[in-house]
Amino acid sequence: MHIFVQVIVLWTGMIYAFPAGTNSNVVLESPISTNTIQRIYETSEIKDNEETRLLKKVFLSNRSITCNDGSQAGFYLRKSHSSKTWIIYLEGGWYCFDQQTCRNRWLRQRHFMTSSQWPETRNEGGILSPNEEENPFWWNANHVFVPYCTSDSWSGSRKSRDEMFTFMGTLIVQQVVKDLVPLGLKNSTKLLLTGSSAGAVGVMINLDPTRALLNDVLNLKQIEVRGVADSGWFLDRTPYAPTLRPAVDAIRKGMQLWHAKVPKRCRKIYGSEPWNCYFGYRLYPTLKTPLFIFQWLFDEVQMNADNVGAPVTKQQWDYIHKMGDALRQSFENVSAVFAPSCISHSVLTKKDWLNVKIEDVSLPQALYCWERQHLKPRKKKHNRGPSIASEESTLFSHRLNRKFKNFDLLEQRNATSDDERTSHKRKRRKRRRKERGKERKCCTFKGQNERCESNVAPQNQRSRRSVLKAQKGSNSEVCSHRRLERCTWPQCNRSCPRLHNPFTGDEMDFIELLKSFGLDMESVADALGIDMPTFNNMDPSELLNLLTQQSS
Ligand SMILES: *[C@@H]1O[C@H](CO)[C@@H](O)[C@H](O)[C@H]1NC(C)=O
Ligand SMILES: *[C@@H]1O[C@H](CO)[C@@H](O)[C@H](O)[C@H]1NC(C)=O
Ligand SMILES: *[C@@H]1O[C@H](CO)[C@@H](O)[C@H](O)[C@H]1NC(C)=O
Ligand SMILES: *[C@@H]1O[C@H](CO)[C@@H](O)[C@H](O)[C@H]1NC(C)=O
Ligand SMILES: *[C@@H]1O[C@H](CO)[C@@H](O)[C@H](O)[C@H]1NC(C)=O
Repeated sequence: MHIFVQVIVLWTGMIYAFPAGTNSNVVLESPISTNTIQRIYETSEIKDNEETRLLKKVFLSNRSITCNDGSQAGFYLRKSHSSKTWIIYLEGGWYCFDQQTCRNRWLRQRHFMTSSQWPETRNEGGILSPNEEENPFWWNANHVFVPYCTSDSWSGSRKSRDEMFTFMGTLIVQQVVKDLVPLGLKNSTKLLLTGSSAGAVGVMINLDPTRALLNDVLNLKQIEVRGVADSGWFLDRTPYAPTLRPAVDAIRKGMQLWHAKVPKRCRKIYGSEPWNCYFGYRLYPTLKTPLFIFQWLFDEVQMNADNVGAPVTKQQWDYIHKMGDALRQSFENVSAVFAPSCISHSVLTKKDWLNVKIEDVSLPQALYCWERQHLKPRKKKHNRGPSIASEESTLFSHRLNRKFKNFDLLEQRNATSDDERTSHKRKRRKRRRKERGKERKCCTFKGQNERCESNVAPQNQRSRRSVLKAQKGSNSEVCSHRRLERCTWPQCNRSCPRLHNPFTGDEMDFIELLKSFGLDMESVADALGIDMPTFNNMDPSELLNLLTQQSS
């Protein structure tokens, strides 16, 4: 027992050992360490693949919309002539909220405040990858990467400089959308506004306004707008230990500095306390546009914000467990959510995102299923209560289940989207082979799409608990949009991203990690009541299970 606690200390100690450190002051101004590690790790891996087409830099047409330092803002674009789906991705990277934190950011993380060093091209992974193996459902979509250079969680509208900086995050999002219209967005049918971390907060804050801009102001009503928020759903619980700068205070200050804009409906509810709208669980019920939430149950940024640091005591671990429980509860009324029980932060543009699974369904599969389910929102607007919408959705699930009883979720991985089918001659033969197997799949090929379409509920439903319960009894796992991992221990599942050794960048297996710290495996075995030969022959995953069970 005691040994196990030690193990965990060392192991999480690794995560926090890297430059960002455990000091919450430092952390507040820097992106989380493992991200950096992963980025270094990933960029060194870029293959010289002739199929890889890079994202190309485009500056905004309106030169007065700028990064913090007054340099021109912009985006990176890879067009796909054969696709009518667009994915806009908002980059993350924390924020700064007053003179001091912004000056520090300027000194230490200038790349988050200026476009002056932007390269001509970029290569991003995950949902922005053009590689079919890495990104089976959206490799052929139109991809837009928007670098984060305003330090305002994409919510600012400050055009005049304070002492040094402007904060025009929300203006950038609007201008990106406007500039994309003549580049092909005009003819599209679907826009996914996505983002990670601060970018995910940006998604939530800019989602309804983006839809209004496209559907109402620009009158492009055929474009269905949806949001995907990765790792930006935070809770403002009482921290484990008092912090010098609680997140709420920082946001309050930041909002003034940034001349922040939050969505109207939320602002109306919270009146003089608009900072509330930066927290997903408060903002979400006010949103009109469909939103998919991804969140690690043990998000590193959340753990830092709660000042629980590298846990060394039972009390700290209890706090972390409760943090996971609270997060699970906060998803009670969220209709589309994917929350694995891992210690990590962000996922959408990571190369190995296909490995992120809950009960054998990968995140991209779940996301794709959600994205496809409702192709066209009904014309009818707000007079539809959420309960009716949910019931329709339940009905839809039942029909779906009857129809696709034998539906094998794993097969979805091999499915190609409509978009993909229209392009790339050299893939045609492969594709034809795939077509044959398609009949049984939901929402992945035309015939079924039509069926899906005719039965679907409008997207602005926010399911009520009773309805969710009703759904649970049925076989509705098929296209379930709510996936919350059941096990409560961080890293309890092997599909969690590998932890990386911060010094070498190498992946580490749990057992390797223990050994690398010179842990005496004999005493571990002893503590578990297993003899050494058995211990050595044990399947690592079995051992991991054993260890995690011992601890709770
Ligand atoms: C450019 O953006 C600024 C700041 O939002 C705005 O005041 C101005 O009208 C815009 N100019 C054009 C030509 O759209
Ligand atoms: C939209 O589609 C029309 C007809 O197919 C084409 O003429 C036009 O150039 C397209 N516009 C853009 C911006 O791609
Ligand atoms: C979910 O909705 C119900 C009914 O509106 C409400 O009472 C409950 O507090 C909500 N749960 C969360 C976590 O917001
Ligand atoms: C881990 O995931 C697998 C497959 O997704 C699942 O069967 C298993 O129950 C999970 N483990 C725990 C401890 O929840
Ligand atoms: C998916 O495709 C791979 C290779 O293309 C194949 O080995 C695998 O059996 C396929 N899976 C299913 C479920 O069809």
